[in-house]
Amino acid sequence: MKTIVANWKMRLGVRESVALARGVLRGLRGLDDVPNVYLAPTFPALVEVGKVLGRSRVRMAAQTIHHELDGPYTGEVSAKVVKEVGAKSVIIGHSSRRAAGVTDGEVANKIALAVEQGLDIILCVGESAASKEAGETLGVVHDQLHGALASVTIPRSTKLMIAYEPVWAIGTGKWPTIHDVADVHAAIRDQLAELDISDVLVLYGGSVTPENAYEFLSHSSVDGALVGGASVRIAPLMEIIQTASEL
Ligand code: PGA
Repeated sequence: MKTIVANWKMRLGVRESVALARGVLRGLRGLDDVPNVYLAPTFPALVEVGKVLGRSRVRMAAQTIHHELDGPYTGEVSAKVVKEVGAKSVIIGHSSRRAAGVTDGEVANKIALAVEQGLDIILCVGESAASKEAGETLGVVHDQLHGALASVTIPRSTKLMIAYEPVWAIGTGKWPTIHDVADVHAAIRDQLAELDISDVLVLYGGSVTPENAYEFLSHSSVDGALVGGASVRIAPLMEIIQTASEL
């Protein structure tokens, strides 16, 4: 079964998020095989989207958490609180957060907190355009994975997903070839084995659309997709989910 993570970023308000979540639940009713679906709304929409999803099989993800559990951090949100309002998982280390200054050490702290709170983890890794040009993709991904995971124990009860998201592919309408994705995914699996971490899903993210979803999702090395821009309207999102359901 494939996994689709819809990352709504800062694109939808509360009412729009609720309507889209309802639309997804309706759309899934028509599918024979339902993939694993995670919806990641903006913080203020978590409570209401959580109510809509209730006990359905669609899970809610927070887009980030702070690297401390509590304290004097103005404007930040704790893992404890996203859990309290119904998130089952959290996106950690998205390139937007790394660009805003989040370090590998903070990513590692966030992972430890997510484990502690019983949240599933969607850890994003990926190289910049400059690193790709310099042939450093695998090195960057290796360092990000080790930085994030070497110091934490991931228990069996925590579902870990790694989303390989080349920074240059996010929101740009550009994407790597499936061969390049398969190479990086293979390297990610090797590195996880080195870290003694098993049972991991490896997703692809970066300009996934209804048009290219099949190419990514049908490859055996790709367990699912993290979708940004194409996930904020019901039609393209359901097309991608439908593609996943047929594989
Ligand atoms: P995109 O975003 O699908 O709009 O490229 C992906 C992401 O940032 O997670």
